[in-house]
Amino acid sequence: MSVTIKSEHEIELMREAGRILSIVHDEMGKIIRPGISTMDINRRGEEVIKSFGCIPSFLNYQGYPASICVSVNDEVVHGIPSKKHILKEGDIVSLDAGVIYKGYQSDAARTHAVGQISEEDQRLIDITKQSFFEGIKFAKAGNHLFDISKTIQKFVEDNGYSVVRDLVGHGIGRKLHEEPQIPNFKPIGRGMKLRPGMTLAIEPMVNAGAYEVWMLEDDWTVVTKDSTKSAHYENTVLITDGEPELLSYNKDLL
Ligand code: MF3
Ligand code: CO
Repeated sequence: MSVTIKSEHEIELMREAGRILSIVHDEMGKIIRPGISTMDINRRGEEVIKSFGCIPSFLNYQGYPASICVSVNDEVVHGIPSKKHILKEGDIVSLDAGVIYKGYQSDAARTHAVGQISEEDQRLIDITKQSFFEGIKFAKAGNHLFDISKTIQKFVEDNGYSVVRDLVGHGIGRKLHEEPQIPNFKPIGRGMKLRPGMTLAIEPMVNAGAYEVWMLEDDWTVVTKDSTKSAHYENTVLITDGEPELLSYNKDLL
């Protein structure tokens, strides 16, 4: 399948999916504190998604066993929630969630502090989020896809961190993963030209140390090879003729 251009009606549904997803993240953010389990976060996320009549898109996706990906410290993405994994003061936790509203998807991720964290770890979270906002300055019709990738990579590396290479962002719409793939580093060339109506999940994954990652025995959890911490930030973005529209982001929430 090639890149899909969404109609105004489809965009309207994706706006609603994204609006709901921003609330899901906000609600999950509110319960984060030392002593809760990663499963508690999954439960809360699932509850809020269902309260809007939406479907958690990750549940059973390629066999993934939960609704929310909860990745702690050196876990980069796709951490599986567990009742036994209790968050402690000083952890950082990345939450990745997806919802389906009337057949249309939204995908977003946020990284949170658990209680008081080190200045160093807060900086990792902040730079990761900021790298997304630097990247989307180029998310405009007429620019090329890898202009976004290149900008994210440069910003992250200029700040002394590294971008994960083995996982990438993606187009999104009726399906969670559509074309194109969106690396957070610059491949050869400039990539495809951006057109109004494209919807993209742009998601920098940033390691404090080296970019290499491993997969754990559970075949889901991706961790940094050097055990340094990692942060993740993602939104579903609509390309327009002007500024990009952030479908899963509400500046008054998270
Ligand atoms: N947000 C993830 C992504 O962008 C999807 C999680 S994979 C799942 O690829 F299996 F957990 F759904
Ligand atoms: Co995604």
